[in-house]
Amino acid sequence: MSDDPHTQGNERPVTQPRPSLRRIRIVGTGRGVPEKVLTNDDLSKMVDTSDAWIRERTGIRTRHTVKRGEEAASDLAARAGTAACEAAGISPKEIDAVICSTISADMPLPSCAVYVQRKVGAAPNSAAFDLSAACGGFIYGLAVAEGLLRSGLYRHILLCGVEVLSGYVNWQDRNTCVLFGDGAGAAILRLCTDEEQEAGLGVQSVHLFADGTQAEALMIPGGGSLYPTSEQTLADGKHFIHMNGKVIFTNAVRNLASSCLTALSQHGLTPKDVDLVIAHQANLRIVEAVAQRLDLPMDKFFINIDRYGNTSSASVPIALDEAVRMGKAKPGDRLLFTALGAGLAWGATVVRL
Ligand code: UT7
Repeated sequence: MSDDPHTQGNERPVTQPRPSLRRIRIVGTGRGVPEKVLTNDDLSKMVDTSDAWIRERTGIRTRHTVKRGEEAASDLAARAGTAACEAAGISPKEIDAVICSTISADMPLPSCAVYVQRKVGAAPNSAAFDLSAACGGFIYGLAVAEGLLRSGLYRHILLCGVEVLSGYVNWQDRNTCVLFGDGAGAAILRLCTDEEQEAGLGVQSVHLFADGTQAEALMIPGGGSLYPTSEQTLADGKHFIHMNGKVIFTNAVRNLASSCLTALSQHGLTPKDVDLVIAHQANLRIVEAVAQRLDLPMDKFFINIDRYGNTSSASVPIALDEAVRMGKAKPGDRLLFTALGAGLAWGATVVRL
């Protein structure tokens, strides 16, 4: 194990990305967030909590939730995907693959991605599949998209991070129900052109990690092959999110910071070389602790947890889209993405926009 506290947890030897490989580039972003807003005061009427506790302990003021039975994950992802296509200046028909990072698809079968393919109007023969890496999913998706694009078989990929966790939260459990929100973010990805490659733009390298020894720290135990839905699993509340907040918190601070340093050092960079950090919005205190470990001021971090809560795999792409549209992330800027969630699964990547 490394002696450096920043790199502990990331001891797997990092191989050098082959410099000759073509990088991928984010050429358009979008988001889709439900209209309905749930405030901390609304929650304090449902469980024993308060606006002050939620703001102080998490930084969250409001979150958006779907109208149950009227909107599903694919509706939000399709909205984000349509906006991303418009921003990229491509027709949805030019999408060759749809990847949805989600743990809250419209239904267990089929995938959320096939509905997104249909709703954005992508070509019916494009590939479409879901990816399950919880809050780390958008960063995992970037790595998968990179591989597909480099194969030469796909030119444009629509990568969505989408969650409707309002359907999995126990609205009587104050430990979890105040944290999560629904939403989707999306990006259109393609290989860099010769000029972009020459200019050093694009996703520099994606670093992924997981720690299955902590699998029980955040889970929805019911409804899978271990505990198929039954009257008993429902009575036991196995269909709800169960979380050990402290374990996640501690691991998040350590692993987010160390994966950022791994991703940066791969390219001879330090945190000071970054224009903007887009970190998973799970808790403002986690982001503040990561900022401290990276020795960066908070104004280097894009923050929107106050308005959205924790939208799991949608968190990074929603923040990215807002940062781009607000002019806080500009073409050519060096961004650092990092996210961690259930699994544990986490990762980081440096992106020249
Ligand atoms: O996306 C990745 C997934 N999740 C996360 O990243 C979450 C990571 N964890 C966290 O963000 C924090 O651990 C929480 C926000 C979940 C909890 O914050 P905390 O400062 O670790 O609080 P705690 O669990 O230590 O609870 C402190 C007290 C407890 O009361 P007692 O036992 O001291 O009497 C809780 O019962 O606060 C109580 N509490 C609440 N009080 C009012 C817990 N939730 C609430 C609440 N309102 N909503």
